[in-house]
Amino acid sequence: MQYQAEQSRGLAADIEQAAQVLRDADYVAVLTGAGVSAESGIATFRGAGGLWEGHRIEEVATPHAFQRDPTLVWRFYNQRRTKLCAVKPNPGHHALAQLEEQRGSERFALITQNVDGLHRAAGSRHVLELHGSLARIRCSGCGQVDERPPEDPLPDLPTCDECRALLRPDIVWFEEPLPEDVWTEAAECAARSDVFLVAGTSAVVYPAARLVPIAKSAGAVIVEINLTATEASQWVDFGLYGPSGQILPRLTRWRAAGR
Ligand code: OAD
Repeated sequence: MQYQAEQSRGLAADIEQAAQVLRDADYVAVLTGAGVSAESGIATFRGAGGLWEGHRIEEVATPHAFQRDPTLVWRFYNQRRTKLCAVKPNPGHHALAQLEEQRGSERFALITQNVDGLHRAAGSRHVLELHGSLARIRCSGCGQVDERPPEDPLPDLPTCDECRALLRPDIVWFEEPLPEDVWTEAAECAARSDVFLVAGTSAVVYPAARLVPIAKSAGAVIVEINLTATEASQWVDFGLYGPSGQILPRLTRWRAAGR
């Protein structure tokens, strides 16, 4: 009990200190992962009950899987799209949107591995989606990309109105490169940042995870928000361990009060 109280006193002091550094920063960049959406009710990828549990990645999230069994791949992504209709941003998403609002988008970038659109739904504007979006489809034939919000259901095996080829989710699959323009901008924002927040990611998927050492080696203060230590923890100056839906509002609320 006493240990817990000491731990939370330590956490409160760390949040306060990190918030001060955040307040003084000229440019802030954030990298988020699935953990930021966990409190909205979206399963993370790894670990017990994770989204990959019960699915081999090679069966649902590679170009080869789509070639082999597009029906299975679409079933997986259509289930994820349906799930999105029932979820909302949580206080962690709102805190990051508010941080951008306070600072101005020209001094802030939100880089996300998430494909759920919840950062934009919360009001974030300078969002760089490294792994694509569940709300977009791309033609596997002519390459045309279109918005297709999850509320607008897709058939089991959707095809392109123009060229009749199969549509695919506009998601970056394993073995595929990231969109070059998005990655270049993300790496520039990371290198430019004075404070780099890394929230709710296991930091095991590359190249996204590389943004942390990129920011660190360019001189940023690294703040990790997660339930546990991760692969990114080796770079971290402040480790704030707890649910991001609770920690992020505390980190940014303090900022507003301390202005
Ligand atoms: P993971 O599932 O690998 O990691 C989720 C992280 O969130 C873990 O470190 C958890 O400890 C943490 N976490 C869980 N709940 C949390 C909470 N309430 N507050 C804070 N942290 C919490 O997800 P990602 O790191 O996002 O790629 O995975 C990266 C990429 O791998 C994904 O974009 C996806 C996946 O395979 C593609 O699909 C291409």
